[in-house]
Amino acid sequence: CGIVGYIGHREAYPIILKGLKRLEYRGYDSAGIALYDGSDIKLSKTKGKVADLEARLEKEITTNGTLGIGHTRWATHGVPNDINSHPHYSNSGNLVIIHNGIIENYESLKKELIKRGYTFKSDTDTEVLVNLIEDVMKKENTKLGKAVQIALNQVVGAYAIAVFDKNKPNEIVVARLGSPLAIGIGDDEFFIASDASPFLEYTKNAIYLEDEEMAIVRRDKEVKIRKIKDDSPVAPYMQELQLNLEQIEKGGYDHFMLKEIYEQPRAILDTFRGRLRTNEAIIKMSGVEDNMKKFLNADRIIVVACGTSWHAGLVSEYIFEDLARIPVEVEYASEFRYRNPVITEKDLVIAISQSGETADTLAAIKLAKSKGAFVFGVCNVVGSSIARETDAGAYTHAGPEIGVASTKAFTTQITVLTLIALRLARAKGTISSSDYRHHLIELELIPSKVEKVLKSDDYVKTIANIYKDVKNFLYLGRGYNFPVALEGALKLKEISYIHAEGYPAAEMKHGPIALIDENMPIVVIATKKGHYDKVVSNIQEIKSRKGKIIGIVTEGDQQVKELADHVIEVPETLESLSPLVTTIPLQLLSYHIAVMLNKNVDQPRNLAKSVTVE
Ligand code: G6P
Repeated sequence: CGIVGYIGHREAYPIILKGLKRLEYRGYDSAGIALYDGSDIKLSKTKGKVADLEARLEKEITTNGTLGIGHTRWATHGVPNDINSHPHYSNSGNLVIIHNGIIENYESLKKELIKRGYTFKSDTDTEVLVNLIEDVMKKENTKLGKAVQIALNQVVGAYAIAVFDKNKPNEIVVARLGSPLAIGIGDDEFFIASDASPFLEYTKNAIYLEDEEMAIVRRDKEVKIRKIKDDSPVAPYMQELQLNLEQIEKGGYDHFMLKEIYEQPRAILDTFRGRLRTNEAIIKMSGVEDNMKKFLNADRIIVVACGTSWHAGLVSEYIFEDLARIPVEVEYASEFRYRNPVITEKDLVIAISQSGETADTLAAIKLAKSKGAFVFGVCNVVGSSIARETDAGAYTHAGPEIGVASTKAFTTQITVLTLIALRLARAKGTISSSDYRHHLIELELIPSKVEKVLKSDDYVKTIANIYKDVKNFLYLGRGYNFPVALEGALKLKEISYIHAEGYPAAEMKHGPIALIDENMPIVVIATKKGHYDKVVSNIQEIKSRKGKIIGIVTEGDQQVKELADHVIEVPETLESLSPLVTTIPLQLLSYHIAVMLNKNVDQPRNLAKSVTVE
């Protein structure tokens, strides 16, 4: 989602509107603007695109005023609709806010505010925040800036916010934790935005707020920055922007795919944020808790999905069976729906979909429901068709994925499915409490381990350069890493158009081994815990046929290193969590090969991000 704000001497509306259009690349499902016209706040918002907002807004409100804020929302709490769109008013109507991010403890804050007489129109965490700020202003008799500081100290979560008070229409208060926020500094005017793209043509001078900082942006004055924690002042650091527009939209990366690969530590963290409480040894996901009986009574789980989501489903088969001892079948949605499958009320169906719009998956869900099965959705896009069609679900919170080749959606799907499996294992008693705790601790470490794998990017690039001109690739893995091999091969096919096949390492001798010669690169996932010795034997078999071996190994590995042509090291983790780290170098490998071959990485030929035809 995106934030834009303006305070100065020009008309705010055209600046904000254009700014919102600039932020469209971030993905969103609704948009809104609030302007101060000299005496009151004028607000208009709608589900849909900025163009829909524009069409409606000019009919609804007058657009004059030199102070305003605008927002594009990518839903996290509450479906995308007009009411849940931002900006949000406080109860008195004096304050108006826009917010990116997630307030984790909004439910408890909301209960407290309801007790104090506050009412809520929307389902959002944001409306809770603006009323919390208003409540502090009243209780403590403070100005907006101070109230924001106090309120944010009660908030757990991530945010970038901009808020103003119609009784003090000469300032906008902004704050950031985990969600970006830039302030453009013009001549007696200021711009606020999620990144610099909305204000690049007005000024090249910008201050980027750091996490846990807030700023009071006052008309005709300088920007005052303070630490949210203790209200201490921070000296502003102004930078001169060198970037052009396109570079900014991609966050400085050459492609969305690369940006999204690099976002994975953050995305995985956002996925378990508020759900995984390691200290208390608790996993809490309302969709699972509310339907615990359905999960525990299920005779089996049937996963339906397509493409990369299907691969995440395959990983989950290992996790559910291994940890929670529930039999799992993983089905291509397109096959399942036409096969006259055996489904009963005792089946629990999990539908996995990034977009939440894939036609085959949607049809499979409808079929399963018609046979009485309970259907649980794992989607990334909030309020999407699949999210609405399923009986319950859990969102992945990966943020918008724009590159057609799925990356962060995959790892966050695995994260959600792992959380569910662990929760069920605990409830069923199929995991010991120490093993369970160990899993939680290790899961929490995954983002930093992924961060570490990303450091091998340059090395992966050198490998890409060696093999970019081959015609075929083979990917091998066993156990938990067999689906990773499939996903690695799919990534390469999708964006570089090189033929690639994923195989269970042991199956190689039943066919693919015939293809191996000195021209065939073979990526083998050979991490320490996953049947390591067996995979090493498979590597020997390749070696004796002169295949080129690229090993994905655990840090410090010696054995594979001696056999392989190249090894990419990944940090050690539990076998059940290893797909979250072993996937990363495979994403990078396909990315670099595609770039070197001059392919359209973000929009590969013939592929669509969301396939709404069967
Ligand atoms: C398309 C996309 C893939 C995606 C698949 C399933 O083929 O190009 O990246 O994995 O659809 O999409 P879904 O949105 O249901 O996960």
